[in-house]
Amino acid sequence: MDLTEIEEGNVVLSVPEHEDSEGPKEVRDEVFYNPSMRINRDICISFLKAWFDEKRVNVLDGMAASGVRGLRIKKETSISDVTINDLSEKAAELIEKNAEKNSLDVEVSKDSIEKHLLNNRYEYDYIDIDPFGSPVPYYPLAARYISHEGIVGVTATDTSVLCGTYPTTCFRKYSSEPKNNWCRHENGLRILIAYCAREAARYDKWVKPLLSYYEGHHFRTYLQIGDGAQKADECLDKLNRIRFYDHWWEEGSAGDEKNCGPFWTGDLYSEKILEQMEKVGELSEKLLSLWKNEAGLPPFFYDTNEISSSLKEAPPPMKDIIDSLKEKSFKASKTHFLPTGIKTDVSIEDMKEIFLDH
Ligand SMILES: C[S@@+](CC[C@H](N)C(=O)[O-])C[C@H]1O[C@@H](n2cnc3c(N)ncnc32)[C@H](O)[C@@H]1O
Repeated sequence: MDLTEIEEGNVVLSVPEHEDSEGPKEVRDEVFYNPSMRINRDICISFLKAWFDEKRVNVLDGMAASGVRGLRIKKETSISDVTINDLSEKAAELIEKNAEKNSLDVEVSKDSIEKHLLNNRYEYDYIDIDPFGSPVPYYPLAARYISHEGIVGVTATDTSVLCGTYPTTCFRKYSSEPKNNWCRHENGLRILIAYCAREAARYDKWVKPLLSYYEGHHFRTYLQIGDGAQKADECLDKLNRIRFYDHWWEEGSAGDEKNCGPFWTGDLYSEKILEQMEKVGELSEKLLSLWKNEAGLPPFFYDTNEISSSLKEAPPPMKDIIDSLKEKSFKASKTHFLPTGIKTDVSIEDMKEIFLDH
């Protein structure tokens, strides 16, 4: 394996020679390192700093490849106990090497995450699941064996499945019917969380999404998970089917075959964690304020381009629409899911009127 040296965050790592191309790519025989997923890891560090702060916690980077995430957690946060695991022998060797290179005292393990979790039940307060593609084969054991009120960070890179390009695969893996429309990225994220809530509920556990987002090539959600059958039932009440119309949507009944979903229709963020992340101060203000503005707004959004083309009018500036909505006492915000999208609690009729007023 030809290695090259890179710097990411506060660590220096040996990683296989890689192309600086966009998007996650699976390289079977090499240890995987993808520079374009740095944003995923930067957000992870900021989240863990905000969440765990000074508490003594035990963290598992369960599918670690070069070890970049686990080593950054050890180096850049005050978390003391970090285990870095990967199934691949080559990866485990490289993780050891990289830990030594940075003089970091971490536990390195070469195991399947499934076996590791079965042998270390309830040991971890944070488990990171970052597979090639779908997290479906790995999430259930993490949800089952995370410590009470601990956190599971889940990445899904099978975005085309979750967004509806392959509906049969989506239904097979996630038990939801996707919808490939203007809300496809939010739909995909909400299908992922619905799946996570459903799986946790099988063990009488509830989930609370603390931070969930879509980013170009992946979905990510940080779920706090705890014991409690009644709260698990309340989570299942938040899994709903939706009927999308041309430019809007409504919750549908379970048996309606024109509907899609079920989607998680609860919160995607904890406003408290976003405030704490703001205090940590490492992520771009722009990203944090987009999430903060969206937090507390209803699920799904309008696409201003779609509404304009149906009205055969040029779209008014986004800021003007948002200001008008707020002046009329509606909630309104841009959304990170689509640059032309607006999240609001206004009806489609009132929304169209605001368009025509401009
Ligand atoms: C997408 S890479 C992880 C990237 C890494 N977390 C990062 O931030 O750079 C997925 C890794 O999962 C490992 N893997 C695949 N199946 C596994 C399993 N069952 N248990 C543990 N690791 C596994 C692969 O060897 C690969 O290194």
